[in-house]
Amino acid sequence: MAGVGHYVPDRKLTNADLERMFDTSDEWIVSRTGMRERRIAEPETPTSELAVRAARHALERARLEPADIDCFIVATVTPDYVFPATACRVAAILGVAGRAAFDIEIACSGFIYGLSVASSLIRSGVFKRVMLIGAEKLSSITDYQDRSTAILFGDGAGAAIIERSAENCFLGCDLGSDGSKPELLYVPAGGSREPLTADRIDARRQYMHMKGREVFRFAVDRMLKASTAALAQAQIDPAQVAYLIPHQANRRIIDAAAKHLVVPPDRVLINIDRYGNTSSASIPITVSEAVGRGQFKVGEILVFVGFGGGLSWGAVAWKWDGMGTKAEA
Ligand code: ACO
Repeated sequence: MAGVGHYVPDRKLTNADLERMFDTSDEWIVSRTGMRERRIAEPETPTSELAVRAARHALERARLEPADIDCFIVATVTPDYVFPATACRVAAILGVAGRAAFDIEIACSGFIYGLSVASSLIRSGVFKRVMLIGAEKLSSITDYQDRSTAILFGDGAGAAIIERSAENCFLGCDLGSDGSKPELLYVPAGGSREPLTADRIDARRQYMHMKGREVFRFAVDRMLKASTAALAQAQIDPAQVAYLIPHQANRRIIDAAAKHLVVPPDRVLINIDRYGNTSSASIPITVSEAVGRGQFKVGEILVFVGFGGGLSWGAVAWKWDGMGTKAEA
């Protein structure tokens, strides 16, 4: 990773704000999710703008220019448009229209899937440098009349520049999906199955719907299995893991998965209290903040693990290659 950056909007949505919007409490939200506040983009700000800001931060840290990037990938479920791909907008805004650009739409697993695609494109020799961005404006698909989902989501973006290196850092990977029950976590209307109509909008089907309890059980199970499988492929013992960097969906999910994986709490990176669930952006934001603190050392083993709509899941075992040590110099 030549550079990692992030961006979150300034505007905060706190638990106290949510208490004023519907029947909930700070105590309930903190004890059930670990969340205290989230960031919310201005209504007129599109996802591409969040993505570009994160990309610029990553470029600055890598001391690279947009022209140094061969391909842009944006993982998002909140694209600017149904099409064109948000990645095309990002490349154009950065002044490098003409470069390869495409989106990945696999919800909260987006950064993990993207990491495997970007690494494969590099290892196969197609590209030298890929900008992978997880960017979400989840406030645009959150129903603020539904207390069971409105408390969970926030906006933000994280970006990683993946480049060819002398040593392989992509050590192991596990990806999976189960599309047999999309209704566990989905936006029902706005696609080809339920095109938007006035009736569907009145029924609030343009927003995220979720069966929280079922997703919770699935999440703990898959985080554990995906991390274990990625480490097994890398032939690395869980005890060798320096940091577990999980998708930030629920503090209790993270704690349960870490406990089963036997990773001590101080080796699990968490920022859910400040940003809530930012879907595909949550892992790169967490990595970027750790890089800002100079937390990773060369050669340390990191495990990125995510799950979400699809249902989908994935984990990558990654060897840190040192970008962090020169990041804030
Ligand atoms: N405030 C107060 N009470 C609430 C709230 C709220 N905000 N929301 C729900 N409740 C109530 C419910 O109405 C229910 O009341 P009842 O028992 O009288 O019916 C009670 O609290 C318990 O509800 P549950 O849904 O069972 O609560 P649970 O402990 O499961 O927590 C939560 C809910 C936080 C949503 C949890 O299930 C969860 O985190 N699930 C996983 C979410 C997730 O990880 N999503 C995947 C990623 S998102 C993506 O891919 C885009």
